[in-house]
Amino acid sequence: MEKTLIVTGGSRGIGAATSLLAAREGYKVCINFRKDEVAAVNVMTSIKAAGGVAIACKADIGTTAGVDHLFRVVDEQFGRLDGLVNNAGILETQARLADIDADRLQRIFQTNVIGAFLCAREAVKRMSTKNKGDGGAIVNVSSGAAISGAPGEYVDYAASKGAMDTMTVGLAKEVAEEGIRVNGVRPGFIYTDIHADGGEPDRVDRVKAFVPLKRGGTATEVAEAILWLLSDKSSFSTGTFIDVSGGK
Ligand SMILES: NC(=O)c1ccc[n+]([C@@H]2O[C@H](COP(=O)([O-])OP(=O)(O)OC[C@H]3O[C@@H](n4cnc5c(N)ncnc54)[C@H](OP(=O)(O)O)[C@@H]3O)[C@@H](O)[C@H]2O)c1
Repeated sequence: MEKTLIVTGGSRGIGAATSLLAAREGYKVCINFRKDEVAAVNVMTSIKAAGGVAIACKADIGTTAGVDHLFRVVDEQFGRLDGLVNNAGILETQARLADIDADRLQRIFQTNVIGAFLCAREAVKRMSTKNKGDGGAIVNVSSGAAISGAPGEYVDYAASKGAMDTMTVGLAKEVAEEGIRVNGVRPGFIYTDIHADGGEPDRVDRVKAFVPLKRGGTATEVAEAILWLLSDKSSFSTGTFIDVSGGK
């Protein structure tokens, strides 16, 4: 039986690399996106061209309606769920905390924290052996910012990832006896479009000298860690993290 996987924000960057790699490893993949349908369809088309199975689902995971729609589509199209990658995440223009208003905090926490919680909740409902599920794995895509705090850039974003890390630890213990493992990856500086949203598209090249490996990472390097945590190869790991950060 083919395993099924939801990748939130699976249309671009780390999520797209994860969707492509997961399909290559035999998962049926649901590529979730919020706005950029062309990017989502491109990932889906690449997977299908290589003989894999994928669907694309437009849904804002920061809303209950969006999460309900996403999981309903997967129920209808795949009929089962084996894994969730809580990858969708946003940041906004680099700023000091003194200049961040409540509306921005609301947006950041709505997607990065509430969205991840709502998706984890729906995944647990379906995968828990208590509910006659077959178990499964959740991987939360956090950030090195959860540790550094991202001063002067986006302390709000960093704090949202800190919340996600705490959820990883707590949920892992909560559902361990229900056949579900919950782990996180903390990417460092990775070449994706997210840095443009912060107002500095070339941020990785500016900061890479501070990385012990002296370079930025690729989305595929993060995807490899995610796929390992999803797989049975990591069967004794739960509530833990892989830093994919070049040693920083
Ligand atoms: N790149 C890095 O250096 C880095 C470092 C540490 C952690 N991370 C984390 O890695 C994850 C992926 O980042 P990335 O760099 O690959 O970002 P990205 O290139 O900006 O891609 C973000 C993806 O998330 C989707 N998305 C955003 N908000 C959404 C929502 N509310 N509902 C559904 N989908 C949503 C986007 O869809 P649309 O295109 O449709 O908007 C897009 O597919 C994020 O959680 C980020 O915090 C990234």
